[in-house]
Amino acid sequence: MGLNSSSIGRKVAMALSGLFLVFFLGQHFVINFSSVVSPETFNSWSHFMGTNGLVQFLLQPILIIGVVFHFVMGVILEVQNRKARAVNYVSFKGNTNSTWASRNMIISGLVILAFLGLHFYDFWVPEMVYKYIESNPEAPTRYYEELVHKFESHVRVILYVLAFILLMFHLWHGFASSFQSIGFNNKYSKALIGFTKFYAIFIPLGFIFIALYHHFNQILP
Ligand code: HEM
Repeated sequence: MGLNSSSIGRKVAMALSGLFLVFFLGQHFVINFSSVVSPETFNSWSHFMGTNGLVQFLLQPILIIGVVFHFVMGVILEVQNRKARAVNYVSFKGNTNSTWASRNMIISGLVILAFLGLHFYDFWVPEMVYKYIESNPEAPTRYYEELVHKFESHVRVILYVLAFILLMFHLWHGFASSFQSIGFNNKYSKALIGFTKFYAIFIPLGFIFIALYHHFNQILP
């Protein structure tokens, strides 16, 4: 069963949307990590991102479309692969040369999707309502308090941390395999794969640190 052009096209589109989201995660981590280092910096960066026209009306819609596209295509490819596997059951040696992370991308993906549902409810929707529904006056120093307040609840922190652990598995396989899917295979591949594995651990661990830092910073005397 050869891979036809449309399924190759889907895999490349999936890989490119994945690489875009990996880039978003990096900048999202830097902005939110600033809340641990300097609340003033976090407020000024959040205010810039929150009031800059290019970010709000071009990059943010592209991001949301990228997130939706990546998940929809993820489900389409999973269904396609399961159909192919059912046909080739006899010769499929599934578990022998694949990791848990690679066999369960749909599981880690769906957990991240569930996280984004909670996360949008926590941060993005209130932000959109504050700015575009209630059209409140700009308050450049409000972001830090709003962020910290969200990490008071230990239930939210536990859910976030669990999601970040699944994000680690998703990135561990997804980031490296995206480069394979777009055919990036040359003398730099080994170093690049090494970087993708470092990133897959460092960024989610960083998000876990941010959540735990703001939580314990509030509950410990
Ligand atoms: C402790 C970790 C995190 C913190 C503190 C955090 C904080 C925030 C905040 C404050 C916003 C609202 C930004 C705005 O629209 O003004 C936001 C939006 C968003 N976050 Fe996070 N985030 C975290 C982790 C993540 C992770 C792991 C993902 C992806 C898997 C993610 C994806 C998004 C997306 C897609 C948006 C909406 C787009 C945007 O407005 O930037 N976040 N987050």
